Amino acid sequence: MKHTTFARSLVCLALVTASAASLAEEASDQSGQELFKFHGCANCHGADGKSPVSKLVPELAGKPADELYANATKILSGEGTSEESKLMHAAFYSPSNCDSPPTDEQVKLITGWLATQ
Ligand code: HEC
Repeated sequence: MKHTTFARSLVCLALVTASAASLAEEASDQSGQELFKFHGCANCHGADGKSPVSKLVPELAGKPADELYANATKILSGEGTSEESKLMHAAFYSPSNCDSPPTDEQVKLITGWLATQ
């Protein structure tokens, strides 16, 4: 079991490293919409932020940008207190995840885009 998990982490690391290298250049001018997909936000919140995969996941589209930004930042920094917020945090910070966390600037771009959906 342990071995399998470790192997999976290595595969994830390899994939992330490979895609980070090839995407690093493009990432700087990706739009909020592209970053939402790139960072795997869409895997839980739905491609458009309107079609979450579970009742535990909120819709994001059309909410005020500053509110979305404040909430996303709080969750990503690990300050979210709900069980649901821990699910989102773990997607970026658990040892076996594949999704790289977005930078502060990218969270701004993403939440700015979501607010206009
Ligand atoms: C593993 C699934 C998952 C992923 C991946 C994920 N989220 Fe979430 N997100 C959640 C859940 C569950 C909540 C609800 C947290 C709560 O209720 O406390 C949430 C809450 C939020 C909120 C607060 C909701 C509100 O109404 O303000 C924002 C903003 C948000 N997510 C943005 C993002 C962004 C941006 C990304 C990508 C960088 C992302 N999420 C990736 C599951 C996820």
